[in-house]
Amino acid sequence: MHNELLNWFYLNKRDLPWRHGRSPYRIWVSEIMLQQTQVKTVIPYYKKWIKKYPTLNSFKESKFDDVIKVWEGLGYYSRCKNMFNAAKLIKSSFPNNYDDLIKLPGIGDYTAKTILAIAFKKNLVGIDTNLERIGYRILGLKTKTKRNQKRVIRFLEENQCTKNPGDYNEALMDLGSSLCKASITHCNECPLKNICKAYARSSPTSYPTPKASKKIPIYDVAISVIEYQNKVLITKRQNTKFLSGLWEFPGGKIEKNETAVDAIIREVKEETNLTISNPVFLGNITHKYSHFGVNISLFKSFPKSIKTLNSYREHRWIKLKDILNFPLPKANHKMLDILKKLN
Ligand code: ADE
Repeated sequence: MHNELLNWFYLNKRDLPWRHGRSPYRIWVSEIMLQQTQVKTVIPYYKKWIKKYPTLNSFKESKFDDVIKVWEGLGYYSRCKNMFNAAKLIKSSFPNNYDDLIKLPGIGDYTAKTILAIAFKKNLVGIDTNLERIGYRILGLKTKTKRNQKRVIRFLEENQCTKNPGDYNEALMDLGSSLCKASITHCNECPLKNICKAYARSSPTSYPTPKASKKIPIYDVAISVIEYQNKVLITKRQNTKFLSGLWEFPGGKIEKNETAVDAIIREVKEETNLTISNPVFLGNITHKYSHFGVNISLFKSFPKSIKTLNSYREHRWIKLKDILNFPLPKANHKMLDILKKLN
């Protein structure tokens, strides 16, 4: 099958920035950015990153606060931290074998195989959800089971192009993102339609059986811009599961039976040991991250004194005009829009 697939790929492949200048380092950067993130979102971040850190050595000399600023807005921030840690572990050249690559933080089976196929022409196939879907469709498998999974993997590996494993891998990625998407297919144009059982059965999108979409939780949150002598207080999220390394205004979840005002007074006290009275409501912001959404009540408040300030987190008093020097979660950018409108 790979001849038909590769002929199609060479005529239709996407011109993506990581398909130029293919050093293992650049492939690595792109593959980490592309984990759980769409190609069109990654493109500007990848370009910015490569401009700032064109080589592994330049990245090894970086400071984490600068690196996360480049990553700001791309999401899943632990990827960035893992890359930073991984770079320090790479002693000389970029690892060219599975056992060494898989040891690096942030590199799992899929990413290791994809990097090795693309950057080192190793005979491996990195199978993500796109490739998996194509396999299920060609083989006409509906139910996701361990056995079917193995059949799909075996099929994709056995049909690999051993001369051009990277092209084979990327051809399947491009097919999965253009003609063979989860809910839309263009089978007439597909180079693999003659061997595809799902196509033969005229219902390609029912292979594999689509998952019911999951509802994500929405949290009510209260946040305050705390102002003192024309400066505002920001704190750094650290060792948190989400958004670690980013800066934010103090605040947190509103508990059951609590008003937003009660919540912000309590949260500010817990996080900073500052006492605020009469917080002024500025507006509401909603934002969806991948696993949860937030419904934020934004306040402004003025502590009487900052002598009690005692935060377990790193914190800074900054001029609001300087805030963009700090990496912020997306929702905080929406807060800045409210503040701008009010000023
Ligand atoms: N998704 C993950 N890796 C990719 C690549 N190299 N090209 C296009 N899409 C991808």
